[in-house]
Amino acid sequence: MRKIRKAIFPVAGLGSRFLPATKATPKEMLPIVDKPLIQFAVEEAVAAGLTDMIFVTGRTKRIIEDHFDKAYELESELAAKNKTELLRIVQSVVPKHVNCIYIRQAEPLGLGHAVLCAKDIVDEEAFAVILADDLIDHQPGALKQMVDAFNARGGSVLGVEDVPKANTRSYGVVSGTQLDARTEKVTAIVEKPAPEDAPLRSTAAGDVALAVVGRYILTPKIFELLQNVKAGAGGEIQLTDGISALLAHEAVFAYRFEGKRYDCGSKLGYLKATIDFARRHPEVGAQFEAYLKALTI
Ligand code: UTP
Repeated sequence: MRKIRKAIFPVAGLGSRFLPATKATPKEMLPIVDKPLIQFAVEEAVAAGLTDMIFVTGRTKRIIEDHFDKAYELESELAAKNKTELLRIVQSVVPKHVNCIYIRQAEPLGLGHAVLCAKDIVDEEAFAVILADDLIDHQPGALKQMVDAFNARGGSVLGVEDVPKANTRSYGVVSGTQLDARTEKVTAIVEKPAPEDAPLRSTAAGDVALAVVGRYILTPKIFELLQNVKAGAGGEIQLTDGISALLAHEAVFAYRFEGKRYDCGSKLGYLKATIDFARRHPEVGAQFEAYLKALTI
């Protein structure tokens, strides 16, 4: 089995929940304190050993390209002013051995369509898909854990977590048979089911569904299947429908990664991430913590 080398970052969505901030900027460029979401995602992929970062961009393509490109003017200004620490930060956005590749999704026709746009670049090898708006905080990163699961199981791996019954309409939901404490073999997957139609499990905290969040490792068979997927929920070509078709051909696994996930595609999730990361930020963390304490007295 070949090593996973390539990651697809779909960044062509409308980001309508963050308008007007996302009118001219992709939501993946929203910063958590001082680092854009997309940079967290790329760092997670690099830490998992991946080397080829494929960005599927939309109308705001340039900003992402510029972020990962060399910034000659800025770098020479910082060097001239002896701002060596800032220069180091700017120059270390991507390590030198990493390639960045950009392709355009002309219209936001859905996540499945965005992944399909990368078919010719990925070719015949297994690859990762990372949705940068799902920020997952853990060492080792969620993708590294999933690469290990892929190597152990030899099939596609979906990053999953339990979500309350009331939230199933926001996710692809899987059912499966348990293989070990973290892994299930997927038997079915459905996009955004109503709570009454979703496969549920009873827990001490109430009924929960096993939801797919923004991390996938997929075999290249998915491309052929996505080509035949018709527009589904919300008029979009859903990745979930491609994965559902994949189940008829190959084993697919659901992996409960370790780590706290922030849904930074929603305002509340974004604010929670901002507060948690700000509290332990090396530069402002202590002062911010003091500020929060004063607010709550
Ligand atoms: P979302 O479902 O969060 O949609 O996309 P969105 O359009 O970005 O945001 P809202 O709901 O309007 O606020 C999940 C991921 O898939 C990408 C998005 O950029 C995001 O990372 N995506 C979605 C695409 O790249 N292309 C698409 O056609 C749809």
